[in-house]
Amino acid sequence: MTTGAARADFALSVRDLSVRYGPVHALADVDIELGVGRVTALIGMNGSGKSSLFNAIMGRVRPASGEIGVFGQSSLAARRAGLVAYLPQQESIDWDFPISVRQVVMTGRFGMLGPTRRPRAIDREAVVDALRRVGLADLEERQIGELSGGQRKRVFLARSIAQQARLLLLDEPFAGVDKASEASIIALLHELRDSGCGILISTHDLAGVPELADEVVLLRNRVLFHGPTAEALDPAMLTRVFGLEASA
Ligand SMILES: Nc1ncnc2c1ncn2[C@@H]1O[C@H](COP(=O)(O)OP(=O)(O)OP(=O)(O)O)[C@@H](O)[C@H]1O
Ligand SMILES: [Mg+2]
Repeated sequence: MTTGAARADFALSVRDLSVRYGPVHALADVDIELGVGRVTALIGMNGSGKSSLFNAIMGRVRPASGEIGVFGQSSLAARRAGLVAYLPQQESIDWDFPISVRQVVMTGRFGMLGPTRRPRAIDREAVVDALRRVGLADLEERQIGELSGGQRKRVFLARSIAQQARLLLLDEPFAGVDKASEASIIALLHELRDSGCGILISTHDLAGVPELADEVVLLRNRVLFHGPTAEALDPAMLTRVFGLEASA
């Protein structure tokens, strides 16, 4: 995969991306460019290819064709440089693994550790700062298995912050999260956006999108619309692209 099309002024630049699983065309001819300092909601019904898009960006599935650039680099180079943070839909972290909140957030620093591979003072400070920012400083010694769903999402955000990721990919982060936790997570995401991150979030909660996102991508194995939130959520638009109004 080449990255000739990737432009450094886009957090994410996807060109002509196709993903297939045998006969299933999960994504076809997908073009998406995400600006820096924007939150983009990725909306589509079950099976529309949202997770496939994240998986392609993360190198977890091999695209049939296409190019993916992150801040002008190949997605592999960007991942290796710690520029990308990804919260999978089915969380891939083993939450029963005996590891503390602080240790999980420290994993965000692993790509930056010196030759000794041991955390230095600067790494420990970055972890403490990140935990403070997400409001988990008091729980740093807690085993991750003992956290609530909303707290786990905040651990992920703390790890992204410690990592200094600049593209955040979140696959349905609000599923099973109460409204208060959701609001605090959104506030944090907006802070990260305002500090220059690009953020792509898949969600089925259409009612929450105007508060969450600056723009919307409507996906049904292809990009059907990419533009302002109000236009995307217009009932006529939803009816036209999905054949429904109330939910996606
Ligand atoms: N590993 C796989 N093997 C075969 N087919 C797959 C695989 N993963 C996804 N698919 C198929 O690809 C299509 C897109 O799936 P994907 O998981 O990307 O959709 P999604 O938009 O994330 O759906 P949801 O809202 O249910 O999470 C679906 O038809 C799905 O059945
Ligand atoms: Mg999915």
